[in-house]
Amino acid sequence: MLTRVGTAVDSDLGPIADLAARTFPLACPPELPREAIDSFIARHLSAVALQGHLAAPGHDLLAARGPGGELVGYALLIDGTEMDPSCADQIRHRPTVGISKLYVDPAHLGTGVAADMLDAITALCAGRGARGLWLATNVANARARAFYVKNGFLERGHRVFLVGGRENDDVVYEKTLLGLPGRPPSASDGVESGERQQPGRGA
Ligand SMILES: CC(C)(COP(=O)(O)OP(=O)(O)OC[C@H]1O[C@@H](n2cnc3c(N)ncnc32)[C@H](O)[C@@H]1OP(=O)(O)O)[C@@H](O)C(=O)NCCC(=O)NCCS
Repeated sequence: MLTRVGTAVDSDLGPIADLAARTFPLACPPELPREAIDSFIARHLSAVALQGHLAAPGHDLLAARGPGGELVGYALLIDGTEMDPSCADQIRHRPTVGISKLYVDPAHLGTGVAADMLDAITALCAGRGARGLWLATNVANARARAFYVKNGFLERGHRVFLVGGRENDDVVYEKTLLGLPGRPPSASDGVESGERQQPGRGA
């Protein structure tokens, strides 16, 4: 892995907030008004807002760095279904971790940085005993959807996601971590056909 992924610290918050402001619009559907996007960025992606995640139990703000130490991406993980409890009935593997944010600098799209980040997230969460990862992304975000499916996520359903007061249609995805190092399989594991994960990149 060329990308180094680690827990963000205070000095990362400014650069991550800058990256978040530049990349959040890329995940939004074209019809969403710019004011709604800006409102979301100001409320949820400022350095102050991101700082709240550093101290919050069960939240992990991660910084991804390239070989020269430059910030190339960031991710936010939130244990369980806290990031959207309305999705809880769509999640089949527990303990689970929600990937609230996974964003790569546009200069590094298609370079493997995102896959490196997902590998690091998978290793971190499997090592802590998680049996699954889940996330949601806009129905129109074709690139992200292709990336998640390519990396073993399965579609579970939909949710409504509010951006600046506007309702958006998100697709909910889940990936099993069963079969990865980090915890022994147990008889209570609910494995669905074709879902047991292989070590490494996965499906
Ligand atoms: C989602 C994200 C992290 C994925 O990283 P990435 O570097 O783009 O991922 P990859 O290039 O490995 O995979 C994307 C796949 O989508 C494909 N793709 C690109 N544009 C596409 C489109 N318009 N429609 C369908 N597939 C598309 C690519 O060809 C690639 O597939 P391939 O490897 O089989 O060729 C990154 O695109 C990103 O940060 N996007 C902006 C923010 C965002 O949407 N984050 C996710 C919010 S949940």
